[in-house]
Amino acid sequence: MNYFELENGVKIPEIGLGVFRFENNEQGQKSIISALNSGYRHLDTAMFYGNEECVGQSIAESDVKREDIFVTTKLWNEDIKNGNIRPAFEESLRKLNLEYIDLYLIHWPAEGFVHAWQVMEELYKEGKIRAIGVSNFHKFHLDEVYKVCTIRPMVNQIESNPYFNNQELIDYCKSEGMVVEAWSPLGGIKTRIFDDVVLNKIAKKYDKCVAQIIVKWNVQRGVCVLPKSSNPDRIKANIDVYDFTLTDEEICAINELNKNTRSGGNPDTYTIF
Ligand code: A2P
Repeated sequence: MNYFELENGVKIPEIGLGVFRFENNEQGQKSIISALNSGYRHLDTAMFYGNEECVGQSIAESDVKREDIFVTTKLWNEDIKNGNIRPAFEESLRKLNLEYIDLYLIHWPAEGFVHAWQVMEELYKEGKIRAIGVSNFHKFHLDEVYKVCTIRPMVNQIESNPYFNNQELIDYCKSEGMVVEAWSPLGGIKTRIFDDVVLNKIAKKYDKCVAQIIVKWNVQRGVCVLPKSSNPDRIKANIDVYDFTLTDEEICAINELNKNTRSGGNPDTYTIF
C-alpha cells in the first residue's frame, strides 16, 4: 500500500475503508475485519456515523497492531455549534477504545468551526492526535481558519467521484499543502456510476471492475480514496489496484465525465447544521 505524506511527516495510506452506512454493528465488524485481513491499514469513521465503538472493537479483535492502522474520526456539527470540542473528542477516543487518533477532522464547517480548530490544535499539541484537518471546507472556510491558526489543516476530506470530480477545490487544497481525501468516491448509494460506458470500457481493458478503475484514477491523480463496502469480495477488490496503470488519455476521459452533480450536501448551503 502506498502512502501520502502529510505536512508534519505523518504517512497516510492512500486507500482507506469508508465505514459510513453499515446496516448494523455485526456487518460493520465483519467488513472492517475483512478489510484489515485484505491489507487495509486505514479506517475512516466519524462520531456521526454512530459506529466508533464497532471500529474500536474490530481493531481490538483483529490481528493487526493498533499502531499499524491509521484511524480517522470526525467532530460532529452539534459539538462544534455548542463549543463541546474537547468532551466530544474524549468521547470518540473512549468509544474507539484508543489512546490516540491518527487524524481528527472537523466534519462540516458548522458555526463555530474556527473555535473548534483552535481546540483541535491544543489536542494535537498535547499528542492526542497525530494529524488534524477538515472536511467539506471550501476556500472561504479555509481562509477563516488561516486567519487564526498556528497549524494549518493538513487534510481536507471532500466529496469527489467521476461525476462530481471537485477538481478545482482539490487543486487549491493541494497548492496549500493539504492532502485531499475523496468521500463517496464511488458515487455513494444514489449515483448510477457503475453503468457508465466509459468506465466500463476502461475496466474491460484491464480486466478490472469499475470501482477499481475509480480507485486507481484517484490515487493516480494524487487523491486519497475512501471506498465503502460491506461485501468482503468488493472490499478486497477495491484495494487490488496495483497491477495496472491508467494512461493519461484514460485519466482525461474520466475527468471529462464530470457533470458537477453532487451526491451529498453542498458545504455552502447544507442545512443540517
Ligand atoms: P456494498 O457495501 O454493498 O458493497 P461510496 O464509497 O461511494 O460511498 O459507495 C459505496 C457504494 O458502492 C456502496 O453502496 C457499496 O455497496 C458499493 N460498492 C463498493 N465497492 C463496490 C464494488 N467494488 N463494486 C460494486 N459496488 C461497490
